[in-house]
Amino acid sequence: MEFATRTIHAAQPSEPGTGSLIAPIFQTSTYEQESPGVNQGFDYSRTNNPTRARLEAVLADLEGVAHAAVFASGLAAEHAVLQAYLRPGDEIVIPLDVYGGTYRLLNQVFRPLGCEIRQIDLASPSTLHEALTERTRLVWLESPTNPRLLVYDIAAIAAAAHARGALVVVDNTFATPLFQQPFQLGADLVVHSVTKYIAGHSDLIQGAVLAREAAVFEPVKFLQNAGGAVPSPFDCWLTLRGLKTMELRVLRHAENAAAIAEALERHPRVRRVYYPGLASHPGHAIARRQMTGFGGMVSFELDGTMDEVIAFVSTRRYFALGESLGGVKSLVCHPARMTHASIPADERAALGLSDTLIRLSPGCEHPRDLVADVVDGLSALSSVASLTAAG
Ligand SMILES: Cc1ncc(COP(=O)(O)O)c(C=O)c1O
Repeated sequence: MEFATRTIHAAQPSEPGTGSLIAPIFQTSTYEQESPGVNQGFDYSRTNNPTRARLEAVLADLEGVAHAAVFASGLAAEHAVLQAYLRPGDEIVIPLDVYGGTYRLLNQVFRPLGCEIRQIDLASPSTLHEALTERTRLVWLESPTNPRLLVYDIAAIAAAAHARGALVVVDNTFATPLFQQPFQLGADLVVHSVTKYIAGHSDLIQGAVLAREAAVFEPVKFLQNAGGAVPSPFDCWLTLRGLKTMELRVLRHAENAAAIAEALERHPRVRRVYYPGLASHPGHAIARRQMTGFGGMVSFELDGTMDEVIAFVSTRRYFALGESLGGVKSLVCHPARMTHASIPADERAALGLSDTLIRLSPGCEHPRDLVADVVDGLSALSSVASLTAAG
């Protein structure tokens, strides 16, 4: 079955008993039991719920594995993985570019518990080799990364990590299961902020953890119930609704991102464009190899002042200024002051995360409208600058 067909048919039969084409929302906290401990597979909705179970089955199918657990947010999903696998004295290797919330969780929650976080350039095999020790439990990466869309060679990193006995976790949020299948590249666990492209409509917060091996999955599944950070049945149903159009949406997001990246690359007020689909992107060859599309996000460094960055991001017609990404409605974000503000300024600078970096999440609007909105914004800055220079 092809991807688009699976988003609609995998684990989604019409409801037995009524023939309802779309599964109902099992909005219940508990289940009537025949006798103590004898039930139909459901006893309490923190532990399990039919709507959630259906979503988990679909997500597992889309990533090509048997095990999935959904959580109340992407960070709750990440937290469960980290709690399952990190103990005091353990080490985790992460790349220079990582979602700000992941960075905060590691540095402000797990480091104080005695875990060591080694943030390195994962693109350098020798640096990775040196960073891996017998205490490394996890190698954690995003590819493409948030916010600079760096691309890492997942298969090479997985081979190096496995040789040292570490597990590899891939945050597949930006790539989506449509464009990248991390388990085929050697990942042991995949996490998602379902909030983004999977749900796709900017109307809920949700996360997921997937695993191929039952033994790798079991500690995370245990924490889903023991920690209890589960999403509501209604939110699971909304995700089931949203993901049925994932392929249509994500293809349009990528088409829009590519058109914008090309326009940005030609513009004199743009210092640098980050989009894995551009031949100029350092990870382009790897992206071609390990992805089937280049994703829907595009970031760029403005050749301008902080005031100009703020003017650009605050005055777009179609790109609403806001955190998040991956929804049908376009968003623009200033990572240094928004999604990545939890990383101190000096560390951002050391990581190469410029204060004039702007991140765009093109929605599903028409590419002509979105390109025009971006170019108009840049042209308005140019005329402000030339007026100032003339004055
Ligand atoms: C790459 C990535 N991973 C994880 C998360 C966290 O997900 P959530 O906001 O659903 O908790 C985000 C949120 O922006 C993200 O961009």
